[in-house]
Amino acid sequence: MDYKDKAAATIEVIENGPLKISGAINLTDQKRGIKTSVTELYLCRCGKSARKPYCDGSHKH
Ligand code: FES
Repeated sequence: MDYKDKAAATIEVIENGPLKISGAINLTDQKRGIKTSVTELYLCRCGKSARKPYCDGSHKH
């Protein structure tokens, strides 16, 4: 079954970078006290960001 037209969000894996997520997004990070609703965000997957869970561009260095 193809869920492409039913998806509420799209996740793009950026080579050597973050996960770009777009769509109807609710993000909760209990450890950092983050609870937000947005339409686009970039999540760090390299572990270097000082703004986790978000990408801050540190993966480029
Ligand atoms: S992916 Fe960008 S800082 Fe980690």
